[in-house]
Amino acid sequence: MRGKFITFEGIDGAGKSSHVDWLAECLRQRGLSVLVTREPGGTPLGEKLRDLLLHEPMHLETETLLMFAARREHLAQVIEPALARGQWVVCDRFSDATWAYQGGGRGLDKAKFLALEQWVLEGLQPDLTLLFDLPLEVARERIVLANRSLDRFEQERADFHERVRQAYLDRAQHFAHRIRLIDANQSLEVIRKILDAILQETIKSN
Ligand code: TYD
Repeated sequence: MRGKFITFEGIDGAGKSSHVDWLAECLRQRGLSVLVTREPGGTPLGEKLRDLLLHEPMHLETETLLMFAARREHLAQVIEPALARGQWVVCDRFSDATWAYQGGGRGLDKAKFLALEQWVLEGLQPDLTLLFDLPLEVARERIVLANRSLDRFEQERADFHERVRQAYLDRAQHFAHRIRLIDANQSLEVIRKILDAILQETIKSN
């Protein structure tokens, strides 16, 4: 049986990455085979593109095309084969991030996004997307506390991140059947309980 495709999304500092491995482990404990991956990245070529995307200034459309180029490779080499083998794929960010960051944050023309998405995804969408949402100030505080060097996106001004957040929320409304909004401004334990309940539903619907 084909595996399920679960993606994690949210503004920088929403804390999604700390839940990725935990959720994968929960699935494994239920006897499922799980592959954890991320975007941009997930393949040797994709990781090289990630390095450019996170650190090299470039035109908005170049940025978008490289995100989708990395995604095409990721789908062909990693995601599709794993799902076909029956593995569950847990991916830290996917196409919703391009909608939110390049679309909402940077103002990419929606028609261009949709054309690229149709071309690259060929209709594939995650079975479940966990969108971690919280106020910008809280996310910023977390980033400052982590005290590490910031990439090109994290260095953007507050209004950019506010637009990214809004674009994610709009997308969640539009795709309410697949995107689950999670209030990330709660303790780790509370969030894990919520995730566990969502997972049970997803496994049952298999
Ligand atoms: P992120 O998951 O935040 O990496 P880390 O947890 O290591 O900081 O992803 C890196 C950045 O890439 C993030 O700021 C959002 C950006 N991004 C886009 O702008 N568009 C996309 O399509 C994707 C996948 C990511």
